[in-house]
Amino acid sequence: MKGLLLFSLAVITLQSFGQNKTPDSLYHEKYRPQFHFSPAKNWTNDPNGLVYLDGEYHLFYQYNPFGNEWGHMSWGHAVSKDLVSWKQLPVAIAEEGNTMIFSGSCVIDKNNTAGFATKPGQVAMVAVYTAHITLNNLKQDSTLQNQHIAYSLDHGRTWTKYKGNPVLDLGRKDFRDPKVFWYEKGKKWIMTVVFPHEHIVQLYSSPDLKQWTYMSDFGPAGDINGIWECSDLLQVPVKGKTNQYKWVLLNSVSTTMQYFIGEFDGKVFHNEIPDGHIVRPDYGADFYAGITYNNLPAGSLPVLIGWANNWSYAGSIPTFPWKSIMSIPRTLQVTKINGEWALLEQPVAALKNYRLKPVQFENIKFNGSKLLPVQGQQMEMEITMDPGRDDSCGIKFAVGNSHYFTIGYAERSQELYIDRSNSGDTSFHPDFKNWLKTSTAIPENNNKIKLHIFFDKSIIEVFADDGQVVITEQIFPDEKNKAVVLTSTNGKTVFDHIKVWQLKSSWDLR
Ligand code: FRU
Repeated sequence: MKGLLLFSLAVITLQSFGQNKTPDSLYHEKYRPQFHFSPAKNWTNDPNGLVYLDGEYHLFYQYNPFGNEWGHMSWGHAVSKDLVSWKQLPVAIAEEGNTMIFSGSCVIDKNNTAGFATKPGQVAMVAVYTAHITLNNLKQDSTLQNQHIAYSLDHGRTWTKYKGNPVLDLGRKDFRDPKVFWYEKGKKWIMTVVFPHEHIVQLYSSPDLKQWTYMSDFGPAGDINGIWECSDLLQVPVKGKTNQYKWVLLNSVSTTMQYFIGEFDGKVFHNEIPDGHIVRPDYGADFYAGITYNNLPAGSLPVLIGWANNWSYAGSIPTFPWKSIMSIPRTLQVTKINGEWALLEQPVAALKNYRLKPVQFENIKFNGSKLLPVQGQQMEMEITMDPGRDDSCGIKFAVGNSHYFTIGYAERSQELYIDRSNSGDTSFHPDFKNWLKTSTAIPENNNKIKLHIFFDKSIIEVFADDGQVVITEQIFPDEKNKAVVLTSTNGKTVFDHIKVWQLKSSWDLR
C-alpha cells in the first residue's frame, strides 16, 4: 500500500511537472536573464504594440520566428499580469509574402471608430505598423515602407489585416515606426512616424485609424548623429503635482535614444529643452527603440520598455537559443532640475515582489577595495554614498578570476561611469570594443550619490539619483564570477547605506 502511494505520488509529481513546468534547461541557459523578458528562442529587437487590456499587459516585439538572427520580421507576443513575469504566446502578426511586419503600436478602439467590432461587447485591439515591402526580390534595395493596420477581437490572440491597407503611404523607402494614441482633448487619434534619414518625426491625425491627415513635422533637433527611428509622444505627470503634465517626445537615434519635453497643442509639439542640450532616457550602450504603453489603468504612471541591445553588435552577442531581451519596464515622471525639465524613471514597482530577504550594511569607509558578504548574478541593490573629495568610488559586480564590471563615480569630474572592459566575453564582435566605457555627468545631490542597481545574468541597469540618469549595459561574465566589491581609491568615501536583495526568477512564477 505504501509502495503504491509512493508510486502514485511520483506519477502525480511527474505529471504536474510535465503540465506546468518547462524543462529545467529552458530559461535557465547561460546568460539568460531571470527577471527580464526574452523569447524562449530566436531573435528579437524592438518592443512593439505595448498595450494594456483587461488585466493583461501585452508585449509584442520584432521577432524572427525562424532563427536567431534578424530576418522574417513578424510580431512576437507575450503577456504579463505584472510587467515582470511573461508568458510567451504564438506569433501575433506574421511576415507575409514580400512584406515584413516592422515596428508599430497598438491601441484599444473603445469607441469603435474603425468599426472593426461587430458584436455587442466586442472591443477591437488595433495594431498600426510599418509594412516593409520588397518590391522586386532580385533588386535588393527596392523597398517601400508604408503604414498598415490589423485588428484583434480576442485580446491579441488572433489578427486580421485590414483590407484597405496601406492606411498611410507616401511612396517612400524609409518611413516607419508609427506610434498611435487617442488624444482625448481633440477626440482623435494621433500618430507619430519618422523619416529616419531626414531626422524628422511627422505627426498625423485620424478620426478612425484608417484615414490620416498630416499635421506637422518635428526636427531635425537634438542628436542627429544617426538615423531616427521609433518615436513616441505622450503626456507625463509632473512629480509631486496633482493633475499637472508635460508632453514628452522620445525617439531613437541609431544606437541610442533622446527625449524632448514641452507642450502639444493638438497639432504641433513645442520643445522646451534648450537647443544644443541633448538628454537621453538612458545613457548606456544597450537601450534602444523604447516606447510606452497605451491604455494603462487610470492613475498609472506611463511605462517605458526598451530593447536592451545595440545595433552595432546585436547580432553577435553570445546568447543561445535566443538573442536580445527587453529592459526592465520603467515608470515615467518629469520634474524641473536646475530650471530645466527632466525625465525621471523608476523600475516598475512589481519587481519588489521578487525580492528575497534583504542584507544591509551601514557606514562603511575603507581604502582600496572591500568584499561585500553577498554573492550572485541575479540581484538588486540600493546604495547611498558620500563621495570623498577627488575619490573614485563605486561598486564592482561579477567579480572573480580577475574579471569585474565597474559602476563608479569620479568625484572630481562629477561623473558616473560604467566600465565593462574586463567583465567577461567582450570579443564576440569587433565593435563591442567601442562600447566598453560610458560616463555621464551627475552632480552630487547634497553630497550624496544614490544608485539603484539591477543585475540579471547578462544585463545591468543603474538608476541614479532617483532615476534622473539611467544606464543599461549588457555583460557576458563567467557564471562563477559572483563576488561584489566596493571601491574607494583614496579612502575618503563613506558608503552610508547599502541594501541587497537576491531576486526570484520570474520564469518559475509564470
Ligand atoms: C529599430 C528598427 C525600426 C524597424 C525595426 C525593424 O530598431 O530598425 O526602425 O521598424 O527595427 O526590425
